[in-house]
Amino acid sequence: MTLSLQPLRIGIVGSGNMGEGHMKAFLNVPGVRVVALADERPERLAQLQAQYNIPYIFTDFHDLTRHEEVDAISIATPNKFHAPAAIDALEHGKHVLCEKPLARTSAEAEAMVRAAIQHGRVLKTIFNWRERGDSQTLKKYVDEGKLGRVYYAKAYWMRRSGIPGMGGWFTNKDLAGGGPLIDLGVHVLDIAMFQLGEPNVLSVSANVYSELGPRGRGAWATNVWDPSEGKYEVEDLATAFIRLEGGVTLLLEASWAHYGSHSDDFGVHLHGTDGGAEINVKNYEWDDTLRIYTDVAGQPAVIAPRLPKTLGHEVVIKNFCEIIRSGDWDAHKGREGLRRAQIIDACYQSAFENKEIQVQDLAATL
Ligand SMILES: NC(=O)c1ccc[n+]([C@@H]2O[C@H](COP(=O)([O-])OP(=O)(O)OC[C@H]3O[C@@H](n4cnc5c(N)ncnc54)[C@H](O)[C@@H]3O)[C@@H](O)[C@H]2O)c1
Repeated sequence: MTLSLQPLRIGIVGSGNMGEGHMKAFLNVPGVRVVALADERPERLAQLQAQYNIPYIFTDFHDLTRHEEVDAISIATPNKFHAPAAIDALEHGKHVLCEKPLARTSAEAEAMVRAAIQHGRVLKTIFNWRERGDSQTLKKYVDEGKLGRVYYAKAYWMRRSGIPGMGGWFTNKDLAGGGPLIDLGVHVLDIAMFQLGEPNVLSVSANVYSELGPRGRGAWATNVWDPSEGKYEVEDLATAFIRLEGGVTLLLEASWAHYGSHSDDFGVHLHGTDGGAEINVKNYEWDDTLRIYTDVAGQPAVIAPRLPKTLGHEVVIKNFCEIIRSGDWDAHKGREGLRRAQIIDACYQSAFENKEIQVQDLAATL
């Protein structure tokens, strides 16, 4: 019997918000079973096991990543554990789907990609927001050449007051690797690079700030935080000027908290020689978020395409299962995640050293 006819057996590492979301999405894919969960919290494991009828639960993820009844794993832990869980699973012959960011640093991401190549398995990063109807519609339009040559792009995710888990793992440098740049910026960086057709990145010049978080400001309204209980060690705003091949500029902005007009808004703008386009999403809305800028009979004109509603994680998880079943794994070794990690690393380095950092695409050399 070939793998494609057998049920695909999934283990999920990290059973918090996203881990439960992954589980629901996998359970919606025909022929897929979630057979194991790993998390540090036994009570959470017991609750999910009972609720979803999961055969195996483990408090040490190594018991899951090495389990003979697991074909593939999905990682939804704090970022620090992405690389160790993925590499252990790949070394034990499992395919790996991993939450964004692929890793805290490009060195960790590179080790993951090398393991996927060496052990001949799939490694995919979850970039769910690019699957939205606005992004997919725009991508088709860009690929039809309607914008001409895009020479200027901007990607942003700006929150007025939305530090996640203030004092928890998100704001801990060791566990998260960084703040809104690595958490939110990576999503819109991904959408921009996807729209632009994965151009080479030449250099990065960035700044990061940590102005509100350390003073206990900028948390989600529902998040009560006693600064004496947790650490705030990461940036709360980042801005970057990224030079791409062909003289293209990409501006990147990401913030969990700042004083300004945004609430929880993200978008990607593309400006080309024959047209422009803007995705602007306020508070996770789905409708009417794409505008195309063109000329009609010599007059400036705006098009507002009707957009399909797609659920990002469900698409990514369905695609991951299809890739595994296809047996065609060579194009899926985590290189996109590594390229994003390398750009973000260069942003942090640039901010730290106060200078522009040259980038040479590591993923192309592996
Ligand atoms: N794609 C998206 O839109 C999106 C949104 C939110 C978070 N994320 C990503 O998902 C991941 C998880 O975020 P979350 O919001 O679910 O966090 P969370 O805090 O809700 O869940 C993390 C879980 O991991 C568990 N955990 C911690 N250390 C562990 C270990 N060593 N082994 C096993 N389990 C461990 C925790 O007990 C917790 O249950 C992060 O990488 C984050 O960046 C992605």
